[in-house]
Amino acid sequence: MSNKAEARPFDPDLDVAGDPIALLLRWLGEAEMTEPSDANAMALATCTSDGHPSVRMVLMKGLDERGLAFYTNSASQKGRELAENSHASACFHWKSQRRQVRAAGLVKLLPEEDAERYFHSRTRGSQIGAAISLQSRPLASREEMVGAAERFAQEHPGEIPRPTAWRGYALEPETIEFWQDGADRLHDRMAYWRVDGGWTRQRLYP
Ligand SMILES: Cc1cc2nc3c(=O)[nH]c(=O)nc-3n(C[C@H](O)[C@H](O)[C@H](O)COP(=O)(O)O)c2cc1C
Repeated sequence: MSNKAEARPFDPDLDVAGDPIALLLRWLGEAEMTEPSDANAMALATCTSDGHPSVRMVLMKGLDERGLAFYTNSASQKGRELAENSHASACFHWKSQRRQVRAAGLVKLLPEEDAERYFHSRTRGSQIGAAISLQSRPLASREEMVGAAERFAQEHPGEIPRPTAWRGYALEPETIEFWQDGADRLHDRMAYWRVDGGWTRQRLYP
């Protein structure tokens, strides 16, 4: 059984847009109107220095000249891998749009102030959840975690201090590639590369 709807019309911006960041922001905005949740979710692939890859979802929380920003615990697997190998790749897939965007480049730590600002913009519950997390360490039961969160909340009636390991990162893209579903497998692919501070692009066979 196929649930394939009509192929979406060609996006003429793919052939004229000179700025892939602006195009990514436009596609993200369109996905936000049709995705059931978290249109800003992207798969983030990292790799150990001896070549073992791993991938997981994170939320892109900003996109500017510094790159694709995300926040995580630097003691996590991704944090440890980025500390030894800053090369990474990210991929969005918006099923409702039948579009994919991937980016690759180097990931840099954002200043502590970004982490501070983002951490305190989250709900009190999320801040407490992050504060009590012994990131990626074994956990005996869900009850243990919930109990720790309740005790922490009682002990900290005011502001929740940001765990120092909670940090922001930005993937500065060297390449960005757009993919859009087309009829009869005639999909559109447009790849962008950074050249001399600007961007050059090339259409690719799908
Ligand atoms: C939709 C979605 C969004 C997520 N966003 C984040 C995020 O922004 N930051 C984060 O640290 N983990 C996020 N997670 C959890 C990660 O995928 C992952 O389980 C966790 O960070 C541990 O990853 P690691 O052990 O590979 O470092 C998200 C998971 C999902 C499914």
